[in-house]
Amino acid sequence: MTERKQFRAIKGTRDILPPDSSLWNWFEQGARDVFESYNYREIRLPIFEETELFSRSVGLETEVVSKEMYTFNPDENPFTPQYGKLEHELFVAGATYSLRPEATASVCRAYIEHGMHTLPGNVKLYYMGPMFRRERPQKGRYRQFYQIGAEVLGQSDAPAIDAELIEMLMVFFARVGLTKTTLYVNSIGDKNCRPAYVERLREELRKVKDQLRDDSQRRIETNPLRVLDSKLPEEQPIIEKLPRIAEHLCDACREHFAKLKDELKLRRIGYEENWRLVRGLDYYTRTTFEVIAEGLGSQNAVCGGGRYDGLVKLLSGPPTKGIGFAIGSDRSILSIQEGGAAPKLGGLSVFIAWMGEAAYLGGVGIARKLRAAGLSVELPPEEMKFKKALGLADKLGARYALILGEDEITAGKFTLKNMADGAQRKYSEGQLLEYLESERRGSG
Ligand code: HAM
Repeated sequence: MTERKQFRAIKGTRDILPPDSSLWNWFEQGARDVFESYNYREIRLPIFEETELFSRSVGLETEVVSKEMYTFNPDENPFTPQYGKLEHELFVAGATYSLRPEATASVCRAYIEHGMHTLPGNVKLYYMGPMFRRERPQKGRYRQFYQIGAEVLGQSDAPAIDAELIEMLMVFFARVGLTKTTLYVNSIGDKNCRPAYVERLREELRKVKDQLRDDSQRRIETNPLRVLDSKLPEEQPIIEKLPRIAEHLCDACREHFAKLKDELKLRRIGYEENWRLVRGLDYYTRTTFEVIAEGLGSQNAVCGGGRYDGLVKLLSGPPTKGIGFAIGSDRSILSIQEGGAAPKLGGLSVFIAWMGEAAYLGGVGIARKLRAAGLSVELPPEEMKFKKALGLADKLGARYALILGEDEITAGKFTLKNMADGAQRKYSEGQLLEYLESERRGSG
């Protein structure tokens, strides 16, 4: 007989188990609360799209599109040849599909598809969910990872939009205890000034080509800006001598960047300028920013974002300005945990230790009332000796044990044991509910 295979999560993907999942929910709820307070609303997007949406937006030459996408051709599914005809009816002939490596492209696609440019004011959206990139897995880098993103689309590119978006991001990070962070900002110019700068950079890079490694050599021709991203120690002295974009911005871009910095100061947001922050996706113009956090090693960017004023038009939509960011949830949560700032969340409030038929019947009713009051309650489905029940309550981390025996039911008085200090008190049902509810409010 052949041995049965045991399945494991695919490399680069992982299960998020309790109690970590509570921390994830808390983190995501924090984002919802903060973003909604800035008048952003959630958009839910598909997890796969036409490949071309990403190649056009993010760029064919980028690492993300050229190497890291999970792409499939629906006509070529060996398991379901009978669906071939259906695929032809449902999907665009000859198109391939990709798991989304990011969601800005999808937001722009949806903005165009639903005519959102006719909505009043700026369109402010946020999203959260898994993204997929075929990268080499390591600490803080996964093939299925999670982002929380926010995007503003509309007619205006006022620097106040950029600054408010960044303020919202930093308010959120502060709220979840991610305070040991550095915010880097830069401007990479626009279609009027960047092409000349890129050409200048390319010329300078060609002069030092021999001193650069393979990747950088290749990028001189494909995407010279990406050379600035290099982390190789031997390339650093060369890069530091290259021409800097700040000295090549056109007047409009320079003014936009200066105003953004004034706005950040107005909002008391600490930042560092980083002329090498060019970001790895092609759609950016003007403002780019990134936040790095402590305790993460090399994969320390917890958020990246920037302006993408030409993207909606590039996707055949109306001329539209846009800016946004995406937070990497996996890394942010890792950093919160490593920094010891993770809150102790939820957990079991009450374990009902019951013995005897009457106690069980009473317990079912009490459990339902306590749960309706928002408490987390465990009612064992089978009878257990009190000693064993209290032992289990302890192992499950229950804050209280409610002791129900025949006597308690007859007297209508129940003993509540505080599991932390062992203190016991008797309550009537009404008092019990009132006490536990006030405790819940206090601890919540
Ligand atoms: P990004 O810089 O490619 O930007 O990704 C944003 C964040 O996602 C990163 O800073 C990082 O925290 C997280 N991240 C990226 N790849 C991985 C991975 N393999 N494993 C774990 N975390 C990862 C974007 O995706 C843009 N769409 C952001 C944006 C929105 N720009 C404008 N609007």
